[in-house]
Amino acid sequence: MQSIEIIYPDDWHCHLRDGAALSTTVPDIATQFRRAIVMPNLVPAVTTVEMASDYCQRIMEEVPSHNPFTPLMVLYLTDETPVQTIQAAKKSGIIFGCKLYPAGVTTHSHAGVTSLEKCHAVFEAMAELGLPLLIHGEVNDPAVDIFDRERVFIESHLLHLVERYPTLKIVLEHITTQDAVEFVTQAPANVAATITPHHLLLNRNDMLVGGIKPHHFCLPILKRKLHQQALLQAATSGNPKFFLGTDSAPHAQSKKEAACGCAGIYSAYSAIELYATAFEQANALDKLENFASRFGPAFYGLPINTDKITLTKSTWVMPNDLPFGEEKLIPFLAGETLTWKAIR
Ligand code: NCD
Ligand code: ZN
Repeated sequence: MQSIEIIYPDDWHCHLRDGAALSTTVPDIATQFRRAIVMPNLVPAVTTVEMASDYCQRIMEEVPSHNPFTPLMVLYLTDETPVQTIQAAKKSGIIFGCKLYPAGVTTHSHAGVTSLEKCHAVFEAMAELGLPLLIHGEVNDPAVDIFDRERVFIESHLLHLVERYPTLKIVLEHITTQDAVEFVTQAPANVAATITPHHLLLNRNDMLVGGIKPHHFCLPILKRKLHQQALLQAATSGNPKFFLGTDSAPHAQSKKEAACGCAGIYSAYSAIELYATAFEQANALDKLENFASRFGPAFYGLPINTDKITLTKSTWVMPNDLPFGEEKLIPFLAGETLTWKAIR
């Protein structure tokens, strides 16, 4: 196939950061997508409707003129989030989900939830209001191997959560294992998952063999190849429970190339081209439109976009770096040749 037209896609999980970073991340995401679910793990975390509204405004200031991009804001749940905040979030019209970070699992998650029990009333309110719960599905238990943290979260927390709140919409974010694919496939229709481009294109060998690659380090961490294959199979299966979420997560070059490097891969510069590459490898380009443009809005109960983009077979080289405030940002696959280009 040399060219494929698809409905303009959306990103159901990304990190835009704040301040000077927004002048890089917002134009990139707004070029790639019509809408994006914006993660709230700022410092301080976006825990109130007012904070989400202010953050939304700062994002909108960086959207290029005549670009119809809409950020879909998310609240960060803590042990103390009051039910009234959930009701206010639903009423706000700008908030489309609440994020559950088990405390300590990833970047800026220290203010997250220490025990799911503390959120009981909040989960009940969300179920009643139809506000989706977006979950970083890993345990933060030093006794659990980093490669097992997603599976253990599913077994020890998620199974129970899904049973206890049968009408709560749940998105298991950025899934990385065959275990997650099986869990989501078998779960009821109110449980879905997002899949990143890097987990489709890479496995842990790409991060660790021949020298450690800090720009391939993200959380949940890349797993072995059999998991990568299970994710590819899920993304290209046509099952509406699996849809696009880049987890594009920029960190300055100096924070990545460090003795203790930050987790996160910046894919917003070229997200749809990266997905096209993965889908082509699986011989499933015809499944890309549903994954990228239909299944996400269907799950969130939103309309699909009305305009289209064309992906064509054409080679180009990913920039070596991008501006990032005073620093530099290394995009995913920096300096490498890509074979798909989007025309908008
Ligand atoms: C994300 C970040 O940097 O905010 N990092 C990552 O590796 N994906 C946080 C997250 O989604 O876990
Ligand atoms: Zn993320």
